[in-house]
Amino acid sequence: MAADAPVIEVQQVTTVLGRAVIHCDLSLHVRSGEVLAIIGGSGSGKTTLLRLMLGLLQPSAGTVRIFGQALSDSDVNALAEVRNRWGVLFQQGALFSALSVFDNIALPLRELKAVPKRLLNDLVMLKLHQVGLNAADALKMPAELSGGMIKRVALARALIMDPTLLFLDEPTAGLDPASSKRFVNLIEDLRSEMKLTVVMVTHDVDTLFALVDRVAVLAERHLVAIGSLQEVVRQPHPFIQEFFLGHLDECAEDHIRKYRASLRSSPRATVPEMGPKQARILEE
Ligand SMILES: Nc1ncnc2c1ncn2[C@@H]1O[C@H](COP(=O)(O)OP(=O)(O)OP(=O)(O)O)[C@@H](O)[C@H]1O
Ligand SMILES: [Mg+2]
Repeated sequence: MAADAPVIEVQQVTTVLGRAVIHCDLSLHVRSGEVLAIIGGSGSGKTTLLRLMLGLLQPSAGTVRIFGQALSDSDVNALAEVRNRWGVLFQQGALFSALSVFDNIALPLRELKAVPKRLLNDLVMLKLHQVGLNAADALKMPAELSGGMIKRVALARALIMDPTLLFLDEPTAGLDPASSKRFVNLIEDLRSEMKLTVVMVTHDVDTLFALVDRVAVLAERHLVAIGSLQEVVRQPHPFIQEFFLGHLDECAEDHIRKYRASLRSSPRATVPEMGPKQARILEE
């Protein structure tokens, strides 16, 4: 695959679910290293588009390629190999409630079966640390976590295979503004550390200002706009006008530059070291 080839190519995709046409002749590319946001009204087919990109759903017509590989005609081994290169934070059902934080994060590695126990422990603790949680959190059950912590654990699990591509479906939904800002900072940090390509669904304008390179807009079964924030806000489509109402000045390039600089200078989470008790429990 050429270095500048798109990471994802959606070509002339039509999706029919039951009797409803969700997408009609939809095409878009995701470029390597970019953060692409998908926006659109509720029910416009954003999550369904992610499901197509993840191979969880087959389009009725058209093709989806990831890393140059068509998802429809790949054999099982080739698909498994491609799947190991991406991480997903789903809109719903982020964690398994019967598993501890540690076991939730370890799950994708355990499915590989060949990872030695000590290495698995180290990798899980590293990811926990990376998302700003501490070792004591590894022993907690999902019911003991705040909404922001659940998102962080789900993100740690999405990152456990060191993906190059990350899918996020409404990553800040349900978080208060401060937690949402911290989460956005975290994704920005991870993106620059891990050189990730990110495809994210969001309805949160602040998240768009903070993170995205391009925005794709779904409406009436079509992609009605795609481009930088500055390009997209100029489009006359009623959904776009309503979505950005009152935010037009904030979409200006220099406003976004200043906003991102202020986020970068805000304090980051500090991570306490693992105590002997947690280390012992995880060893057992
Ligand atoms: N498995 C399914 N069977 C039938 N219809 C479905 C299925 N999944 C989704 N739909 C329908 O497809 C449309 C798009 O759903 P989707 O979940 O992609 O919307 P969305 O843009 O993610 O919305 P939201 O912003 O509310 O999350 C909706 O009308 C939904 O009812
Ligand atoms: Mg959705």
